[in-house]
Amino acid sequence: MKDPITVSITGAAGQIGYALLFRIASGSVFGPDQPVNLRLIEIEPALPALQGVVMELDDCAFPLLREIVPTSDLAEGFRGANWALLVGSVPRKAGMERGDLLGINGKIFTGQGQAIAANAASDVRTLVVGNPCNTNALIAMANAEGIPNERFFAMTRLDENRAKSQLAAKAGVHSSQVSNLCIWGNHSATQYPDFVHAKIDGKPVTEVISDRAWLEGEFITTVQQRGAAIIKARGASSAASAANAALDTVMALSQPTAEGDWHSVAVCSKGEYGIEPGLIASMPIRTKADGSWEVVEGLEIDAFSQAKIDATIAELKEEREAVKDLIPG
Ligand code: NAI
Repeated sequence: MKDPITVSITGAAGQIGYALLFRIASGSVFGPDQPVNLRLIEIEPALPALQGVVMELDDCAFPLLREIVPTSDLAEGFRGANWALLVGSVPRKAGMERGDLLGINGKIFTGQGQAIAANAASDVRTLVVGNPCNTNALIAMANAEGIPNERFFAMTRLDENRAKSQLAAKAGVHSSQVSNLCIWGNHSATQYPDFVHAKIDGKPVTEVISDRAWLEGEFITTVQQRGAAIIKARGASSAASAANAALDTVMALSQPTAEGDWHSVAVCSKGEYGIEPGLIASMPIRTKADGSWEVVEGLEIDAFSQAKIDATIAELKEEREAVKDLIPG
């Protein structure tokens, strides 16, 4: 039996946490021979609810689940973590400006970045799901001294999955036939789901779907507004699909990407595609056989796509400006 992998999850008693934990504990993420330790981090008022989740994990009697540590202490919560999934954050309330939300959540990610640096395993990788996830990841990364920037990620996989499903429905194919779908930029309403480079059964989407007006219009807005549409329909946010996408991201970063394909996740830019270095921006990513990753370079960006990418990158710069006090140096 392998040594256990330790996964720390913040916001573990929340909706996404509830949809996430059981799949990790069951072995469906790290494999059927990989034991798992779970370190579950919540704010103090949520600890009783978290205790209920722990009772349910116990009641599953998962063969691969070793230790479960519920805590509100960050040092204890991130101790030995190989993966830190930062899901917990404060939701936007009525009357709250985007800047207020950035500031409130930003403070959470300062402390979490420091605690990860001080306590996690030397190979720790951090995926931020809690919104605004790109900028929260930037803050955590900037405060996690000693951890390489390339080990911080923000989630745009839900947007990729949503985009694939929309393209598949329009073309009358299964979503698994859609590949090479890149989400560019911020996980927000400015994100750009890139249909120009996406493929259906290996053919450019633009050859399979001739309705260019739909691709440039309704397709993009449907993906951008999908979260709001689900809240309207369900009366609650898209927790199960978000949890699924978080696990897809962890798996995509743990296994080599299929030949010729890529996946979407926001990473620290080194200036690829003219994106300002240091921003956490979603780009096309390939995971290599040794577990490291690279940005897929050399894609030709047409004028339509460039304008969309510029808009979402401009928003990331504004967000960074709003939290600059939380970014040391
Ligand atoms: P939720 O409100 O059900 O759960 C959030 C949990 O986080 C709560 O249990 C809360 O007590 C906890 N929490 C708050 N501050 C914390 C802190 N400082 N430390 C540890 N835990 C803390 O929300 P839900 O539905 O689980 O969503 C979580 C986050 O994920 C939200 O920010 C949401 O906007 C974001 N999200 C991101 C998506 C993406 O694609 N990147 C998609 C869907 C949601």
